Amino acid sequence: MSVNRGKWSSDFGFILAAAGSAIGLGNIWRFPYTVGEYGGGAFILLYLAFVALIGVPVLLAELSLGRSTERSAVGAFKKLMPDSWWPAVGGLGVLCGFGILSFYSVIAGWTLSYFYMALNGRFADGLSSEQSTQIFTELTASPISEVLLSAAFLTLTALVVRGGISGGIERAARILMPIFLVVLLLLVGRSVTLDGASEGFAFLFAFDFSKLSAAAVVSALGQALFSMSLGMGAMITYGSYLKRSENLPKAAVIVAFFDTGLALIAGLMIFPALFHAGASPAAGPSLIFIVMATIFNTMPLGSLFAIAFYGLLAIAALTSTISLLEVIVAYFVDERQWSRERATWVVTAGCFALSVPSALSFGGSSFFTNMFGGTGFLGMANIVFGNYFLSIGAVLICVFVGWKWGIGNAVAEMDSGGKLPAQAFWGILVRYVCPVAVAIVLVYAAVTGNYL
Ligand code: PHE
Repeated sequence: MSVNRGKWSSDFGFILAAAGSAIGLGNIWRFPYTVGEYGGGAFILLYLAFVALIGVPVLLAELSLGRSTERSAVGAFKKLMPDSWWPAVGGLGVLCGFGILSFYSVIAGWTLSYFYMALNGRFADGLSSEQSTQIFTELTASPISEVLLSAAFLTLTALVVRGGISGGIERAARILMPIFLVVLLLLVGRSVTLDGASEGFAFLFAFDFSKLSAAAVVSALGQALFSMSLGMGAMITYGSYLKRSENLPKAAVIVAFFDTGLALIAGLMIFPALFHAGASPAAGPSLIFIVMATIFNTMPLGSLFAIAFYGLLAIAALTSTISLLEVIVAYFVDERQWSRERATWVVTAGCFALSVPSALSFGGSSFFTNMFGGTGFLGMANIVFGNYFLSIGAVLICVFVGWKWGIGNAVAEMDSGGKLPAQAFWGILVRYVCPVAVAIVLVYAAVTGNYL
């Protein structure tokens, strides 16, 4: 069976694909507005601590689990503990991938529309913030556009995933990630040289610890897991296509470094531009769609930068939706022996169906917009799948690797391609620190209703 699963053609290709999964709307859309909401530098420090002490250890746990079993989320648990309920943890991951993809594709769809509008020069001619809000509201409240855009993004994703591991996912990452990096650096270069940029830096690097509320701690942890694609088996699945010779600790550090570095760079791109235009950093989820759109017309060559910016977002989103779809497709290929082609299209169709209520939750349907006390369907999907499922998944994966499969087995797996430094420390993190810390945050968030 494993003959047809596919493999990464090179270590570098895998790193690009894994970094592509991690780097996404989480970095450019969610990270800046969360930093804005929780007041800048202190939040960033906390986030960095979570990445190092929770993100990297969990990433290593997932990668070694995947590579050791050569199975995706469900199969990995099944192979190690066949007659137990542990495979259900993988099932939770597959479900979570489904849930995240269904709302992520809606926001990703907006990036396509904004890219198209940028190509048509919509953000060039003295756009006021009222007009910009109107563009956003019109787009997101139109049921037809919303549903079609989400369908278009899912189709793009499916076209890559049906091509398989090295021929589809890795090839797309090899093309898209370098473009992403070049465009991002270009945009940062523009942003940091604007007048008023220094206020943006001051905001990003102001360590005001009084702003670190409990809600900020909860958000920082949720963001770290989401941004590194952890807790739902994406990295188990990507790890399962790895050769034994890959150095897992090195790969994990590189992926974490790129993911975090690019979130910070996204901050360097957005905050100086924001302060330059006198806009508020705490604008919330609409930050990059409403606020950024009004900023381009204040820049020389702004319309070109608008094209680059929204193109960048679409690319970042695509390399992440690919990994979300792959988690589900791999389940059907590994466990149900479906062909990749069939799995891809059936799963995509299912995801599309679930994306419709999310697509209609910005005014397209007042029922989906106002449900859950005004949070809306998409808002709730983001909270349930993007925060709760990922956190629960991360706790269970740590408990499994730390206490069931065993630190010794995981370390032996890593050792086949490269030594893990500080093995005992990693063991302590996976057995105690990560599950306990995530569980505390989870329970706190559930009790106070504070997640997100
Ligand atoms: N890490 C992606 C992002 O930052 C989102 C994602 C979450 C992708 C979980 C895969 C799995 O946008």
